[in-house]
Amino acid sequence: PPALRDLMPSNVRIGSAVNGQLLTSDARYRGTLSSQFNAVTAENAMKWTILEPRPGVYDWSASDQFVDFARANGQAVYGHTLLWHSNIPVWITESWSPEQLRAVLRQHIITVVSRYRGKIWAWDVVNEVLAEDGSLRDSLWLRKLGPRYIADAFRWAHEADPDARLFINDYGTEGRTRKADGLLRLVKSLRAGGAPVHGVGFQSHIRLGSPPKDATGNLRRFAALGVSVAITELDVRVPLPITTQKLLDQALLYQHMLKACLAVSTCESITLWGFSDVSSWIGSHYPGYGAACVFNDEFEPKPAHGALVQEL
Ligand code: XIL
Repeated sequence: PPALRDLMPSNVRIGSAVNGQLLTSDARYRGTLSSQFNAVTAENAMKWTILEPRPGVYDWSASDQFVDFARANGQAVYGHTLLWHSNIPVWITESWSPEQLRAVLRQHIITVVSRYRGKIWAWDVVNEVLAEDGSLRDSLWLRKLGPRYIADAFRWAHEADPDARLFINDYGTEGRTRKADGLLRLVKSLRAGGAPVHGVGFQSHIRLGSPPKDATGNLRRFAALGVSVAITELDVRVPLPITTQKLLDQALLYQHMLKACLAVSTCESITLWGFSDVSSWIGSHYPGYGAACVFNDEFEPKPAHGALVQEL
């Protein structure tokens, strides 16, 4: 199939999330990953529980392997993610004092960002910090550190790698929603306060039949703040069983999101949350849904791949 990475405009990258297990075990997986994409995000390998299983004891094996693969294949690395309400190591607990929690968060961010300094194109500094109504999501960090933890995270990351682009990332914000309105307000206020927020990532985990409302207009209003935007985790899950019609409808949604990105001059990248149905997270997280990717289990292109090619 035509290589997406060769067809993209030079200022926009096409990426995929990378499954660490297949990266090690499957040559076909590596082949498609390297020929189709010029950006990569670790699906799990850079999350906190994986990197620091025990206090102060880091395991860099999976993330190093991922970064090395990307470099060997001319792929930009999108770091995901430094701070999340989910995936907090079990050894960090609510019983800690705010001072202890702040110190461990700072240490984590500085350690990880420093290790990959110069090798990372952009970091998701904070992931999913908003609630559906657009207010800040309840989390360990918010409860113990208050709302300033977000700006602090950006400052620490910037200190550790001044050249990395720093993103705030969320889901349910790719269309015009209350949550997206809240994200817009948050980005404005963070930047007004001097926090080094360079970009906004829109996950875009879409369900067939529920397209985001005015994705292009929504991306534009963020771009108007002076930040970059990116589609960071695109997939389109289909209610099973699959039919030909559903795959064609899915293709249109993929194409729609690519169009939205290409229509906004500061859209830096569009990243798919995995490229093959064989390794998609959807099967285990959304019972009754599947087939969310642009390649099937056999790494053959689906209509969605063709629709992306057609748009480029
Ligand atoms: C998911 C991974 O795909 C799964 O393998 C893992 O079990 C849970 O996390 N939003 C995010 C991603 O920011 O990190 C999530 O990735 C999907 C939703």
